[in-house]
Amino acid sequence: MRKRSTFGNRFGTVAVVGGSVVGLGNIWRFPYVAGENGGAAFIIIYIIISLMISVPIMLTEFSIGRYSRRNSMRSFKKLSDNPLWQGVGFMGIATAFIILSFYSVIAGWSLEFLRESVAGTLTNSSPEQIKNNLDTFIASGWRPALWTVAFVVSSCTIVGLGVTKGIERANKVLMPLMVIILVGLAINSFSLSGFKEGVDFLLRPDFSKITWSVGLEALGQSFFSMSLGMGAMITYGSYIKRSENMFKVAGTVAISDVTVAILSGLAIFPAVFSFGISPTSGPDLVFITLPNVFAQLSGGYIISILFFFLLFAAAITSSVSLVEVIVAFVSEEFRISRLKAVILATVSVTAVALMCSLSQVPDSALTIAGYNLFDVADNLSSIVLLPVGAILIIVFAGWVMDKDIFRNELTSRGHHGTTLYPAVRTMVRYVIPIVIAMLFLSKLGLI
Ligand code: TRP
Repeated sequence: MRKRSTFGNRFGTVAVVGGSVVGLGNIWRFPYVAGENGGAAFIIIYIIISLMISVPIMLTEFSIGRYSRRNSMRSFKKLSDNPLWQGVGFMGIATAFIILSFYSVIAGWSLEFLRESVAGTLTNSSPEQIKNNLDTFIASGWRPALWTVAFVVSSCTIVGLGVTKGIERANKVLMPLMVIILVGLAINSFSLSGFKEGVDFLLRPDFSKITWSVGLEALGQSFFSMSLGMGAMITYGSYIKRSENMFKVAGTVAISDVTVAILSGLAIFPAVFSFGISPTSGPDLVFITLPNVFAQLSGGYIISILFFFLLFAAAITSSVSLVEVIVAFVSEEFRISRLKAVILATVSVTAVALMCSLSQVPDSALTIAGYNLFDVADNLSSIVLLPVGAILIIVFAGWVMDKDIFRNELTSRGHHGTTLYPAVRTMVRYVIPIVIAMLFLSKLGLI
């Protein structure tokens, strides 16, 4: 077999994994979910889960991928004779579709906001106008739909042209730029009237707000943000060098991911309280909050353009990792050319994403049990599919996969993290499955 290409040095590995991990999950989803779940208490649980649960899962996915050097479905095939485990890989493909369907809608919004920033209309509006503009935009149906399609076609084209590498290289510049802008906005928050209220909301926990359901939301948010539970990190692991210290990679990625999320919270919540916006506004939150900040910032015109461009860039580096999962699977399993697989992916993802986009029009018939398809896809993936996928992946690694293979791979043949290994194994075999199972059972009202 031809030697599989691998990532370069550690910075390269972290940058590529970071491209998938840092995205709308940090900047759009984290603030709105934190807002709906009461703020600080949620954030503390989210940080603990990210470091104690998500890092071991990321290490596990990396290990499976690096050992087998295959796409996620084939990884399971290589490691176990029981074909049922390939179902986990298959579930990952379905999850990729569902995530892309609502992800593309929000990425489409970032394009519309980029357009409005360039036109100057965004920074010339009052808080009411900003809210009304977004509502009118969504209610039109066709405008968000067009941007959604534009985004899906761009992601798929990047994958089709095989220029993902170039995009990831660009990311080494774009991601630090995004961090700089977020730090700037967080500093600017000090000058806002709602600063104290915002920081209290983010940092002063009200532990009475902690419920099982908040725990499950925090877990889902962490998995979504770190791209876990559907095999994306198995695929990425297959490109990691055998000698690489995966503990350092996963640790750095987790800390960066949490940092970007918190920065985004610091940029947003003081503004939320300054402009009288409700923290529980839902998926709109970032899009109705930040334009107000830009409107009163000197240089806001340029900064708004930069921000929405970078938001789009962060979204596209994440979405190409999802499209790639689908394209690799379709072309390898159905033995069709990559071009055909890309076309198939473009058409099918466009179809599901369009339904999510149109489901947001008020009184749309595209609902399930009273929720529009967009909300269903958003919640279903984070609260159900990713946690279920994660449980299956770690049960596989902890109980099915050969113990020595797991140990060898995780520690790079005894070179790294040997002291941490027993703790990770215990987490993977017992603690994490039990915690996830308990969160589910309580959500279902069974305990
Ligand atoms: N983590 C990305 C974000 O925060 C989204 C994403 C990309 C993802 N690939 C994934 C989520 C795989 C779950 C699984 O925006």
